[in-house]
Amino acid sequence: MTAWRRSFDELVAAIDNNPIMTEGQGLRIWEHFVEHQPRDVLDIGTCFGTSAAYMAGALRYLGRGRVVTVDSNQFDDRSPAKEWVEAVLQRCGLRDWVDTVRMPHSSYAWWLLEEVRRRTSAAGVCTPGYDFIYLDGAKSLTIDTTAVILAERLLRPGGWLLLDDLNWTFEGREEFVPTTMLGNGDRYVLSAEERTVPHIAALFDHVLRDHPAFSNLRVDEDREWGWAQKVRAERRELVVRTELVGDVSGRVLLRAALDKVRARARPRPAGRRKPRA
Ligand SMILES: C[S@@+](CC[C@H](N)C(=O)[O-])C[C@H]1O[C@@H](n2cnc3c(N)ncnc32)[C@H](O)[C@@H]1O
Repeated sequence: MTAWRRSFDELVAAIDNNPIMTEGQGLRIWEHFVEHQPRDVLDIGTCFGTSAAYMAGALRYLGRGRVVTVDSNQFDDRSPAKEWVEAVLQRCGLRDWVDTVRMPHSSYAWWLLEEVRRRTSAAGVCTPGYDFIYLDGAKSLTIDTTAVILAERLLRPGGWLLLDDLNWTFEGREEFVPTTMLGNGDRYVLSAEERTVPHIAALFDHVLRDHPAFSNLRVDEDREWGWAQKVRAERRELVVRTELVGDVSGRVLLRAALDKVRARARPRPAGRRKPRA
């Protein structure tokens, strides 16, 4: 038995069947981590803390890194999830390897936006900070497409995005069906198609598959997990159309764009002028 497999088995015993990530999924995570050696990991959808524990356990085995795990705090007064997270992390001796974020927004997409903003320089360049992002949240095309687009900005080149629940649908799961209620009481409800088509599979097939920032897409045999690797491209040039930025993103980008235009327009110092042909 390999050394990492012994550590994995000890972790499984400490996790002690905490829901929701299974031992088999945990093993696949460990195999991937041992091969790709991520350092900074983002777990979107903490729930009872099991996926965070499996990933943090693998980082501890590798001897470096950190898991940031994010979930809503909107049910913390009614749900035991937060206590379960603390309990499993303590039981596994992993408390120091995990940052738990309980955010107030209606979805983690808004938190991801904040994370992108926090990492974006005055010139509008976002410095990515994660090598692995696991998305196991709302299973909604609307929320999760936004999440994936923002997650891509946070993922280092060569890093991996893993989507859970490719085949999950809202059909027959009334307790999870989202509706949007307006202040006047009107409600937007999911159509029949939105209930029966798996949202994450649609996202994988129609957003990720030919997204220029991702390659090496694959789906696991059980058709539940979809993997995508961020391309190892050279740093992309930031191209800003000055006529749009004022409306779109406000002053920061506008300033960056103007600086760029001014830099281009600035005359070269006399000594460094190209000789005439
Ligand atoms: C299936 S559970 C995650 C399980 C966990 N990753 C594991 O494997 O142990 C999904 C989580 O996503 C969170 N979630 C779902 N919709 C959300 C939303 N709109 N905003 C924030 N969190 C959401 C839920 O609170 C829930 O804890």
